[in-house]
Amino acid sequence: MNHAKEIQPPGDNPEAEKKAEVTRRDFLNEITGAALGIAGLGSAVVTVKFLSPNVLFEPPMRFRVGTPDDYPVNSVTYILDQQVYIVRMTEGFYAVSTVCTHLGCITQWKPEDDLIECPCHGSKFRRSGTVVVGPAPRPLPHFAIRLMSDGDLLVDKLEVVNQAQVLKV
Ligand code: FES
Repeated sequence: MNHAKEIQPPGDNPEAEKKAEVTRRDFLNEITGAALGIAGLGSAVVTVKFLSPNVLFEPPMRFRVGTPDDYPVNSVTYILDQQVYIVRMTEGFYAVSTVCTHLGCITQWKPEDDLIECPCHGSKFRRSGTVVVGPAPRPLPHFAIRLMSDGDLLVDKLEVVNQAQVLKV
């Protein structure tokens, strides 16, 4: 008995070749479908990004900082979210920017020295914002502060006021 398998030369089995051809076609169809899907998804992402507003969300420039009773007389309070110091003296309130007038670093209130100091290049300011030690070229600006009808204090960073302007409460 002869168990040897008969080997057919290539091109002699048309059915097997047809099967291989269909597989190749399916593969190409799948690749094409995937490429179109990725391209469509990319276009959709770009379109959504284009249509959504490209804005930077920042804290409001007018904001409430509580009532006058929240601030003891002769105090400096750092309002972190708004980068402002609320200063209460016997003569009244004022709001001072925490942003150094040299290169824009955020200053720090140092109660032990009774000074506002800049950690970047060493400028020092009085609580009124006046420069004590440079290189800061200008005093820290004051913002308008008002008492609302409901008893809250409102700071308006859109309105820079004279250093001498104080809210009497
Ligand atoms: S940024 Fe404040 S001293 Fe330079």
